[in-house]
Amino acid sequence: MENRAYFELLNEVLRKDGRGIPQLVVDLDRLDQNIATLKAGLTTVSQVRLVVKSLPCWPLLQYLMDQLGTRRLMVFHQPFLLELMELLDEPADILLGKPMPIAAVSNFYETSVDKSHTIHWLIDTEARLDQYLELARRLGVRMSINLEIDVGLHRGGFRDEQSLSKVLSKIEQHPEQLHWTGFMGYDPQVVKLPSFLGSVTQHFNKANLRYQRFIDFTKGDFASLWHDEMILNGAGSPTFLLHQQGASPLNEVAVGSALLKPTTFDIPGLSSFLPACWIATPILKKMRGTRLPGLGLLPNWLDLLFPHLRESYFIYGGYWKADYYYPSDLRLNKIFGPTTNQSMLNASGRYPLNVDDYVFLRPWQSEFVLLQFGALLPYREGQLLDHWSILTGQ
Ligand SMILES: Cc1ncc(COP(=O)(O)O)c(C=O)c1O
Repeated sequence: MENRAYFELLNEVLRKDGRGIPQLVVDLDRLDQNIATLKAGLTTVSQVRLVVKSLPCWPLLQYLMDQLGTRRLMVFHQPFLLELMELLDEPADILLGKPMPIAAVSNFYETSVDKSHTIHWLIDTEARLDQYLELARRLGVRMSINLEIDVGLHRGGFRDEQSLSKVLSKIEQHPEQLHWTGFMGYDPQVVKLPSFLGSVTQHFNKANLRYQRFIDFTKGDFASLWHDEMILNGAGSPTFLLHQQGASPLNEVAVGSALLKPTTFDIPGLSSFLPACWIATPILKKMRGTRLPGLGLLPNWLDLLFPHLRESYFIYGGYWKADYYYPSDLRLNKIFGPTTNQSMLNASGRYPLNVDDYVFLRPWQSEFVLLQFGALLPYREGQLLDHWSILTGQ
């Protein structure tokens, strides 16, 4: 699939127009195909919320929001939230993907002035709700509150009706400060649990039943809090397609990583999505054979047993959360060890590589890895189009 012609052309383009440093290339043709696949897949739960931590680049988010027709974002990092307040030119609907410490929320209100966006703060315990209530009182604001529910991941959130009931009562008693806007129940365990614990369908049904139980309970016991704009968020790249296959308690799905498809998302459920981003880094030094500290030049006959020892390269950087991908016979020299400065690679010499040529890696995840590159380079039809700045996260 990722054929020689594709990477030879990309190498040529980078040699001509690249900056000669490690760079993150996003293939827009592939991204467009993933967008089309995503759109075609959203049959039952049609609303999509973009996961910012997995796509932490403003022009990329803008592109995706336009293409997917959504203004819904999920944010996991307070500095990203602050940056987005500056960057978003039209009102957006932002759901926090994890509960923020009260100091981060307080700092947000001190720092941010833009009030045109809706922010749904995520609450996981009664104690945290108390902190937010106090802050809302002090600031004289009304906060939108979304409740994290545990549908089987056990990463926190409300686990039963009893604990939920306490926070809902409190919200009901403080309509001036608190406005309840729905649930968030993340369910990646559905596809990640080992099969001896049950089938994907069984885990999926179990998670949905738990979700539905919370909905039914609230509709019954807190009918006055239920409204038409309720956000019933769930899923993520691993499970959003499962929610399209029949009854789902959700009315929106969160999706991020599937659109760039780093290696962690090479899972059967996402087989129709294409890898769309590569780390490209130049070769700084090329050597015949393999010469190691303390051992010197390894004997030639070793090449017969281990052909990939025929050539050695030192690259610009390394030790990213990523796999060496092209040329396919590249190997990290484990004796030299990985370094973030100049990693040593070996290869067979089957692919003609020289100093200043680029080698390509596939990230394991887009979250965090993108933050190491400053910008994305959007690439289409043999051309680097632009420089897309990464959110700084500071
Ligand atoms: C609450 C929540 N929703 C959704 C996601 C899905 O993100 P992605 O689609 O990038 O896997 C995550 C990922 O960690 C998450 O924590």
